[in-house]
Amino acid sequence: MTTYLETYRASIETPEKFWLEQAENITWVTKPQTIIDDSAAPIYRWFPDGELNTCYNAVDRHIEAGRGDQTAIIYDSAMLGTRQEISYAELKKDVELFAGALANAGVGKGNRVLIYMPMIPQAHVAMLATARLGAVHSVVFGGFAPAELASRINDCSPTVIVTASGGVEPRRRIEYIPAVEKAMDLSASKPSAVLVFEREGFEHTVEEAEQKAKDTGGAVTWQSADDAMAAAQPHEPVTVKATDPLYILYTSGTTGAPKGVVRDNGGHAVALAWTMKNIYDVGPGEVLWCASDVGWVVGHSYIVYGPLIAGATSVLYEGKPVGTPDAGAFWRVIQDSNAKSLFTAPTALRAIRKADPEASLLADYDTSSLKLLFVAGERLDPETYHWATEKLGVPVIDNWWQTETGWAIAANPRGLEALPLKPGSPSVPSPGYNLQVLDPFGEPVGPGEEGNLAIKLPMPPGNLPTLWGNDDRFISSYLEAFEGYYATGDSGYIDEDGYVFVMGRTDDVINVSGHRLSTGAMEQVLAAHPAVAECAVIGLADQLKGQRPAGYVVLKTGADISEEQLASELIASVRNDIGAVADFKDVKIVEGLPKTRSGKILRKTMRQIADGEDYKVPSTIEDMAVLDDIAKVLKSQ
Ligand code: COA
Ligand code: AMP
Repeated sequence: MTTYLETYRASIETPEKFWLEQAENITWVTKPQTIIDDSAAPIYRWFPDGELNTCYNAVDRHIEAGRGDQTAIIYDSAMLGTRQEISYAELKKDVELFAGALANAGVGKGNRVLIYMPMIPQAHVAMLATARLGAVHSVVFGGFAPAELASRINDCSPTVIVTASGGVEPRRRIEYIPAVEKAMDLSASKPSAVLVFEREGFEHTVEEAEQKAKDTGGAVTWQSADDAMAAAQPHEPVTVKATDPLYILYTSGTTGAPKGVVRDNGGHAVALAWTMKNIYDVGPGEVLWCASDVGWVVGHSYIVYGPLIAGATSVLYEGKPVGTPDAGAFWRVIQDSNAKSLFTAPTALRAIRKADPEASLLADYDTSSLKLLFVAGERLDPETYHWATEKLGVPVIDNWWQTETGWAIAANPRGLEALPLKPGSPSVPSPGYNLQVLDPFGEPVGPGEEGNLAIKLPMPPGNLPTLWGNDDRFISSYLEAFEGYYATGDSGYIDEDGYVFVMGRTDDVINVSGHRLSTGAMEQVLAAHPAVAECAVIGLADQLKGQRPAGYVVLKTGADISEEQLASELIASVRNDIGAVADFKDVKIVEGLPKTRSGKILRKTMRQIADGEDYKVPSTIEDMAVLDDIAKVLKSQ
């Protein structure tokens, strides 16, 4: 048996040999001869002369191997109380027809398709159909508001938008059609068509949208996706280069403008196939349930592409960990789907624990199929780790990654070798990641010493080659801080045994319920209010959600507005401009914001005070009295 250490060393010492071997698990149209192209370093490209189609690898090849009747997707909607099993053969039928429909709507190789969908199987269909055409999808999480959708439309100029009539949340139904209409009004770039998967129980219809578009002389055609499929011919997979983009996924940076992380076809397929076997230990015919959302990277990799490329069964769960109907929902889905591995966020476990501290609802279900529980998206706190381990009786495995990397930078590679687990650590660097801890000058520090977590270039296959249409921003955001390294933006340390500990972000990105959000984007919204002179948004520690955003606002001289009124207006604005998912509910009016003499707001110091952590006041502070004043407010929260 090969050990983790042998594998890791092989991946770092002879990366080309290592990844060429892994590439054998993918079906290529043209097998790659060159493994890595470093001619444009620091931008590296994997498998530059390889050709393939990702959709073929995720769907067709399993049918050709005789597995057409096997279930590809289990769609379990706790919201609707429905359940559906979709075989690989059924999935192929829908995907090839929807690819035909997209082609009829003008989508060809390299064009973009923006997908704004709830958790329904048609989201898989839309993503895979786009990949089948060699086009590029950009999925936008349903919890984002029209303005966020508009900024993504502007950045990637989609030929077509695919949406659904709506999504079902516990407390309300989300109407997607007016949101898409509003986003298109706000954006300069317009698609030629919007295809809508219709769901029952929503107010707005495709016909109305089409009529409205006609009445206003708009050039956008609205069509029911089912009608478009009925009129289409099945489309064959289109061969693309391994280096051609498969998708763009926007993620929060420190500014309001989201970053369009690009994922290519070849490296992504190879990397995900490796992880399914070696990290998640799920193979053909076995069930992986990733309880995230297709709008996040975890959903892209492990609700859609990973399990399907591996020929496994993926569970698509439309529901919450609690309240749909209770804290036993996860245990029911494990039982009903026969899931071998579950992948969720620590927040979901904390929500279950809060509602059912003894996990007494577990007794109602047979969860014996579950062998491994994976968590990611935010730090797994040791308390939650111990609780889940004790209650479920299976290994609870933290894994650390980012939208940019597409797969785990650090994990416990259970399929390769079950390494001992350490609470608070996502275990060891994954093969391919030469992970280092650097001091502020870019020098590696010793074991146990905290610093910037950085990956020595080149990063392994599947990692972002660049940002959409913006090599310069890619280089300045990630590669300039430490020459020869990708800066993750996380700080942490590696202990004597080589275990990684991730302590938190070094920038203004926060993590609410495992959702990555930009405080800069929220500050932009607050600053637009007529009564606000200046503001700061920081992430406060939250027992359930990991972090929650809180805004501190200085009023313009003469502004006459109560804190209560201002708070309700600002909360509504953030909800309206960013989305409900920001969960922005806390506003305080303060006399001033603590700053350095050069005008930089001391957000980190504010967060440390609020969280009761030790903090150092920078010698460059402008006015100590301002910090003392705000400290009183922060300590009271
Ligand atoms: N579409 C539209 N709105 C959405 C949405 C979506 N896909 N997802 C969330 N929202 C809305 C919710 O309806 C809610 O709106 P409200 O303020 O009107 O009630 C708001 O965004 C916040 O939702 P949520 O983050 O789900 O918080 P919650 O308090 O309703 O539930 C948890 C708390 C812990 C149960 C929930 O956050 C959860 O399931 N977290 C796990 C997240 C996860 O799996 N992340 C994986 C990333 S890897
Ligand atoms: P996202 O790009 O949305 O996946 O968010 C990535 C960020 O989430 C990382 O940079 C970390 O700050 C945080 N994160 C993700 N997984 C973990 C983990 N297992 N432990 C600690 N932080 C994590």
